[in-house]
Amino acid sequence: MYNLEKSYGGAQLELRCLLVMNDKAFKIYSLNIQACLNIECTHAKTTSEALKLIEKDYYYEFIICQPENNSKISMKMLLDNTLNRKIKLKYICVGENPIETNDYKEMYVTYMTEPNDIRSVVKYCSDCLGVTIEDIMSVPTSEYYPIPIDFFICLDKSPSDTYIRLGKDANEQYIKRIHEGEGLGRKALDRYISKGVKFLYIKSELRVKFIQEISKNLLVILDDQTQTELEVAKAIDKIQKVVAYNIDLLQVSEELIKLSNGAAASIISQCEKNSKMHRLVNLMLKSKLSFRYKHSQVTAYVALSILSQMSWANSEHRSTLSYTSFFHDIILSTDAMCLVHNSKDLEQGNFSAIEKEIIEKHAQLSAELIRKVPHVPAGVYSIITQHHGSLNGVGFTNVVPESLSPLVTLFMIAEKVAHIVLKSETKELLKKNIINQVKDSFPTKCFEKMLIAFEESIN
Ligand SMILES: [Fe+2]
Ligand SMILES: [Fe+2]
Repeated sequence: MYNLEKSYGGAQLELRCLLVMNDKAFKIYSLNIQACLNIECTHAKTTSEALKLIEKDYYYEFIICQPENNSKISMKMLLDNTLNRKIKLKYICVGENPIETNDYKEMYVTYMTEPNDIRSVVKYCSDCLGVTIEDIMSVPTSEYYPIPIDFFICLDKSPSDTYIRLGKDANEQYIKRIHEGEGLGRKALDRYISKGVKFLYIKSELRVKFIQEISKNLLVILDDQTQTELEVAKAIDKIQKVVAYNIDLLQVSEELIKLSNGAAASIISQCEKNSKMHRLVNLMLKSKLSFRYKHSQVTAYVALSILSQMSWANSEHRSTLSYTSFFHDIILSTDAMCLVHNSKDLEQGNFSAIEKEIIEKHAQLSAELIRKVPHVPAGVYSIITQHHGSLNGVGFTNVVPESLSPLVTLFMIAEKVAHIVLKSETKELLKKNIINQVKDSFPTKCFEKMLIAFEESIN
């Protein structure tokens, strides 16, 4: 357990950091730092404000500074002041680096060139504090923790007291609606949903218990041979939402690994039971599940179907593709983000700067998460990184490099097919126009063989 207080000359002080940046950036950074690290954030809008605060004998664990053009924030002035006064402070300079780093080589200064990469900044701060993920989990972020209401649907009994939130800001209050161990009436949940309730709340310190409980329930459905395909599909849809919703906070916990393994194994067994891919695809087209889920599920069906045409295919490749399908867009938290498939979609979409940044880097970020999962089938990391054709997992490329491996090209075709089928809601996968659209998307030679295999797989 890490200590939220530090002893300075005998006095116990709360850990705090200073954020030197504009209002908007402060809101986003402080929200994340407080939620993840539970550290007090103080705001300075200008260098002189920051210097005054530092001189007032405040002890900051770190100072995050985001200078902008024409702003009254000068990283150089802050660093010079600290250097002259010989005080030890850790600085994180976010954004472009205008400073000659050699001048400050004796100091703790870290440069993060991406202004919206808050995740990396928070991660760096947690490293500075020597905080582990377990530590973070043991610190409540706020008294109540929001859980999307539809996660409750697969629970027979509530694993903890559950609250609804009424009112806003100063009038906000949390009212207990379900006691621990009580049944969750589907009707009551539907009533809340119809009234526009999106979240129910549990006490923050119970969030791990809640995730464990929901995981257990979902895994029971996956293991139950008597469940219909649609019930299994609904369970995997929920699993994916649980993983996507919690992966930021929980990182790769044991529960999330179990869920992901269960989902990947289930996709393979569905494909083994159904030699005809379009039956499974049609099941997805008719279902009212999330786009994200249907997209990864159809990608898996198509990928496994193309793979079955390959003489070199083995069971490890099947696991690789099934796992990759489940995880490839896991960092994207909404269907709208999952619908982006090229730079034009990204520009035209109604996304915040941070969402845009995440979409641009989603292949890289999703791959980084999967790297932390032990015993992942070979190749998953590189296929996820390259699934939009760029070798480093950033952006959507129109010029696909020739050097992509066969499994990457296979996956890219499968993912494209899934996208076309689901977006156009074409009821028939065999349609010639799908084949033509896919061919148009991948004109380079390295896709040739896989495109032939795709055609054969749907014949
Ligand atoms: Fe995707
Ligand atoms: Fe993607």
